[in-house]
Amino acid sequence: MSDRSREYAYAGRLEEARRLEAQANALGTIIEKELNILGLKPNMKVLDAGCGTGAVTRRMASKVFPEKVCGVDIDPLFIDEAKKAASREGLTNVQFTLGNIDNLKYEKGRFDLSYCRLVLMHVHNTVKTISELKRVTKRRGIVAASDIDDGAMLWFPQTPRFFNLWSKFGQWAKARGDDRYIGRQLFSIFSEADLDSVNIYPIPMYGSQQSPVALKMLVSVPVQIIEQDKEELIKEGVITAKDYRESLSEVQLVLSHPGAFAMGMTFLATGEVP
Ligand SMILES: C[S@@+](CC[C@H](N)C(=O)[O-])C[C@H]1O[C@@H](n2cnc3c(N)ncnc32)[C@H](O)[C@@H]1O
Repeated sequence: MSDRSREYAYAGRLEEARRLEAQANALGTIIEKELNILGLKPNMKVLDAGCGTGAVTRRMASKVFPEKVCGVDIDPLFIDEAKKAASREGLTNVQFTLGNIDNLKYEKGRFDLSYCRLVLMHVHNTVKTISELKRVTKRRGIVAASDIDDGAMLWFPQTPRFFNLWSKFGQWAKARGDDRYIGRQLFSIFSEADLDSVNIYPIPMYGSQQSPVALKMLVSVPVQIIEQDKEELIKEGVITAKDYRESLSEVQLVLSHPGAFAMGMTFLATGEVP
C-alpha cells in the first residue's frame, strides 16, 4: 500500500466548510460526550489533527484554557474559515496551522492528547497517520480518533431504496479512497500502531418523533453527503436520477412517520503512548 497523502474529496469548497460546521453543531452532544471521556483539563496541550473549520478545536479551547489547542489541516480554505470563526468568538487560545498530519512539524512528545475526528476514513494509510500522532504525543499521553461506521445505521420504517443507494455510494467512495466502514477497524489500527491500553467507546445517537430535531439530523446527514456527489454518481452510472428521486421520497416517509426512529453510532478510540 502506498502511503502518499491524498487530497480530501471535498477540499477547498465553501459549502463543505459550512456543512462541517452544521454537522458539528447538530452532533454537539456527541462531541461533548467524547471530550468528557477524553478528560480535557486546564493546561493540557492538545492537537486536533485534520481540524477542518475547527468546530471541535474551538470547543476544546475553553476546557484547556489558558493552554492553546493546535488545529492542523491540509486545506487552506478550512484553516482560513477556522481562524475567522475563532476571531469572531474572541478565542485567544487556539492556533490553526496549515499542514499534513502525516508529517507534522511538531517535535516528539509535544502534546498530552492528540485527537482526530472524521479524518481516518479519508486518509490513505491509517496506521501511518496514527503513528505520527503518537510521535508528537508525550509518554503516557493519549492518542484518540473518532469516526463513524455506516454499518451501524438503523432506521424505522425501513428504507430499502435509500439503503441500497447508500451502500452503492459507500462502495464508490471506497474506490475513491474514503472508507465509510472505519469504526470497526479502529481497534486494529490503534493496536498496529503499538499503542497501549486501547479502548473503543461506541457512542450511540438516536432520534424519534419525541426528539424530531435529532431524527431530522440523523436522516439528513447521509442525504447531504450523497447530495454532494449526486451528479458524479449519476454521470458514472452508479445510480440513476430515478433511484435518487425515489430514495429521497422514502426518506421523507421516515420523517413523517409517527413511529419514526433513526440510530447511528460514532466510535471513539483511545490508546496510551508507551
Ligand atoms: C470530514 S473532515 C473533518 C473535519 C473536522 N475534524 C471535524 O470534525 O469537523 C476531514 C478533514 O481532514 C482533513 N485532512 C484529510 N487528510 C489530511 C491530511 N493528510 N493532513 C491534514 N488534514 C487532512 C481534510 O482537509 C478535512 O478538513
